[in-house]
Amino acid sequence: MNRRIIFMGYSLSSSKCLGICLMLTFVMGCYLAALPIQYEREALPNPVRQRITSLEPSKKRLAVLVPFRDRFEELLEFVPHMYSFLNRQKIPFHIFIVQQKDNNRFNRASLINVGFIYSKKDYDYLAMHDVDLLPMNDNLKYDYPAAGPMHISSPKTHPKYHYDTFIGGILLVTREQYELVNGMSNNYWGWGLEDDEFYVRLKDANLTVMRPSNISTGIDNTFKHIHDKTYRKRDMRKCYNQREVTRRRDRETGIHDVSYKLHNTHTVAVDGLNVTVLNVELICDKNKTPWCQCPEPIKAAKKN
Ligand SMILES: *[C@@H]1O[C@H](CO)[C@@H](O)[C@H](O)[C@H]1NC(C)=O
Ligand SMILES: *[C@@H]1O[C@H](CO)[C@@H](O)[C@H](O)[C@H]1NC(C)=O
Ligand SMILES: *[C@@H]1O[C@H](CO)[C@@H](O)[C@H](O)[C@H]1NC(C)=O
Repeated sequence: MNRRIIFMGYSLSSSKCLGICLMLTFVMGCYLAALPIQYEREALPNPVRQRITSLEPSKKRLAVLVPFRDRFEELLEFVPHMYSFLNRQKIPFHIFIVQQKDNNRFNRASLINVGFIYSKKDYDYLAMHDVDLLPMNDNLKYDYPAAGPMHISSPKTHPKYHYDTFIGGILLVTREQYELVNGMSNNYWGWGLEDDEFYVRLKDANLTVMRPSNISTGIDNTFKHIHDKTYRKRDMRKCYNQREVTRRRDRETGIHDVSYKLHNTHTVAVDGLNVTVLNVELICDKNKTPWCQCPEPIKAAKKN
């Protein structure tokens, strides 16, 4: 408005024009100074700007990493749920769906390593997050876990797993903690055990796993488990020397040697809520981990 009025009040001689230009520069300068955050955001490259959902630059940013394959209807429920849950806590976050696009067996840990490498520049901590586990209790705080990795889906509240050293489901880790233990092992193709191995990594690094406090809900009502076990088959096969190797602590593999190709990334909106999908091809060295493909087919779903 101001600018129009100034322009209309003048007949534009060249000296007057200079005055107007100086005036405009001053006004624009004030405008930008009043909006430092947006100004900085504008300077970021496009993909980064789209991924950041907070206007509060001082707050730690959370990358929600969701290892993923063929769970489309679960994703449709997960995304809107997590947006409202985390917005209530005012957590600056973005969701990364790390989708495995190859013929190997599912490798949850390697996908988390890839998601970490992709997001670590812009995010201070990560949640390794199952897509089928929805937090229902607002006292489950997804804050920056400065004191040690925070296991959100504790054995006391997880619908299914109740052993003391369980850290699967949902775990928050800072970028520094994750780097300290060299991320997760890349040896776990097929379902299970990668989180138990990660527990030993944390323990060896003297990191104390924390659990949420002030939780009065239990195994039935802290999480909504949307995994449909009647037709979802878990790949429980063990082939070659998998059983033997995956029961041992892996001191070799991790962030530094996860072998993959990032084919492309997409911004996908669910109910207007953006998530980033990473299409990842994991590359298997069959000399080291021949069990990334088992000869026998997957058996019928285990009823448990
Ligand atoms: C979501 O992504 C679209 C397209 O990539 C973009 O135009 C839009 O601004 C994004 N929305 C938000 C809220 O970031
Ligand atoms: C962990 O703590 C133990 C006992 O306090 C100590 O001996 C060990 O060196 C520590 N390990 C690391 C990696 O800091
Ligand atoms: C503990 O839980 C109660 C009930 O959900 C809540 O009102 C209270 O604010 C919580 N206290 C803390 C310290 O989080």
